[in-house]
Amino acid sequence: MSNTARLDPHFAAEIMAEPGGEHLLTCMSCGTCAATCLVRRYDPAFNPRLLLRRAGMGLREQVLASAEVWQCSACDACYPRCPQQIHISDVMMAIRSVAIREGYEPPGPFAVVDEAKCSGCAVCTRACPYQAIERVTTTVGGAERAIAHVDHNLCQHCGICVAACPSGAMSLEEYNDRELLTRLGAGGWLDRPGLLQSGQGEPRIAAFVCQWSIHADSEWAALDDLQSDSLRIVRLPCSGRIDAAMILIALTRGADGVLVVGCAEGECHYLRGTYQGRGKVLLLNEMMHQLGLPTGRVLFAESAALDRSVLPRLVNEMRANLTRLPAATPAEMAH
Ligand code: FES
Repeated sequence: MSNTARLDPHFAAEIMAEPGGEHLLTCMSCGTCAATCLVRRYDPAFNPRLLLRRAGMGLREQVLASAEVWQCSACDACYPRCPQQIHISDVMMAIRSVAIREGYEPPGPFAVVDEAKCSGCAVCTRACPYQAIERVTTTVGGAERAIAHVDHNLCQHCGICVAACPSGAMSLEEYNDRELLTRLGAGGWLDRPGLLQSGQGEPRIAAFVCQWSIHADSEWAALDDLQSDSLRIVRLPCSGRIDAAMILIALTRGADGVLVVGCAEGECHYLRGTYQGRGKVLLLNEMMHQLGLPTGRVLFAESAALDRSVLPRLVNEMRANLTRLPAATPAEMAH
């Protein structure tokens, strides 16, 4: 079949009929979006300009079957720079809607609601940066009640809802509390006395690091080499996934300090994860201060995507600060 025969003259109109898709043909293919794209920094094969171009040309099968359709994380870093002011993530969403209608499955993983645990409080609805969660009324266990419902077309698997849910009803494959705790405690890392408890050895630091703030697998491997009895690194999908309970578990089970590392402001792939992660750490520090506990044991730091040395530097700085803190008293340990 010739290339021309594969063109669907109705494809562009179909996308443009979806909410957000109306600007598809406004794109003049300048490539500014590709130059700005945060996903492309990690995967050079992802090119929003090319995807929109193909869609506009009517390459239906090529577009709908491509993995790229699902890669945009709707961070909107490209939007302010687009000379045509195209909300590219909305156009991507419109293409996804057509794909889903045609039977293509979003790859996931998605946030999952445990209906039995969900209280319908809608905290996750407000926390989700993508309006991917709505409160619906349904029948659970024979009774009608409100619960959260996740739209797979909108969910970007950032895990922010998992951290926000007060009843533990939200989960995200690989990033549930149980998985994070397993990684934190692997090899018996938890439940060993830290410097502040025993007065001996190096400060023990648990670092929760956004997966996007370290550039490449080779850099993660280099960081893995740094792991030791005094440093444990746990990946997060986004720093917005961290919650106070996870930090407190680390502190009460042998970590002298907890470092949370997120993408630089404006580089978070999930719109406001950096803001949410930093906010939770600030609040926790404030609570510790009001309880009379030593502050400085929990820090939030931003890492620009290309700053490869940031984590080792932050760990060294935190170690130096922790060695200056007074040892925890028995009363503090009880907290
Ligand atoms: Fe890195 Fe949100 S994706 S902090």
